[in-house]
Amino acid sequence: MTDLRLVELSADTIVAVNNLSLKPGQEQFLAPVSYGIAATVLDPASTWQRVIVDDEGVVGFISASFGGGADVDYLDSVLWRINVDADDQGRGVGRFAVEALLSEARSRGLDHVNVLYEPGEDGPEAFFHRVGFTPVGETEYGDVIAEARL
Ligand SMILES: CC(C)(COP(=O)(O)OP(=O)(O)OC[C@H]1O[C@@H](n2cnc3c(N)ncnc32)[C@H](O)[C@@H]1OP(=O)(O)O)[C@@H](O)C(=O)NCCC(=O)NCCS
Repeated sequence: MTDLRLVELSADTIVAVNNLSLKPGQEQFLAPVSYGIAATVLDPASTWQRVIVDDEGVVGFISASFGGGADVDYLDSVLWRINVDADDQGRGVGRFAVEALLSEARSRGLDHVNVLYEPGEDGPEAFFHRVGFTPVGETEYGDVIAEARL
């Protein structure tokens, strides 16, 4: 695998991030971009987002919100969105991004990170389990709430 790095979202990367592709059937599982944008607008200090690049360019994106005074407990420390380009899935990019996120949360003194996802085939459930998240509940909309302890 070529070297993976995290970079800030910038004018250089934003178009490639918007053009990240999905495999057929994955669209329904991806959190709308507007969630992450809303968090950034409401409380910039609590949001964290990074672009994952390798030697050939942008391969993924991850965004999260940490302790921004959310209305509901499970949104206090939460992975909003992760996506890896269809051509780059299955080679460790997602795990690299989640490990970076957990490391960031740890450095902010947090003891857990949550993720919400819709259960189902083609969805990210198996991935989240493999990278350390354990189901702890369900939202009122039927999404699974899973938690990674730090
Ligand atoms: C979910 C997603 C981010 C995973 O990224 P990825 O780069 O393909 O994952 P990795 O290659 O890092 O896989 C990490 C581990 O999860 C496992 N895994 C990944 N996808 C899996 C799947 N669909 N089924 C079973 N295991 C899976 C891998 O085998 C690997 O296990 P290992 O490290 O123990 O060998 C990617 O498939 C994606 O972008 N999906 C579409 C968007 C989406 O659904 N995002 C989540 C909701 S916001």
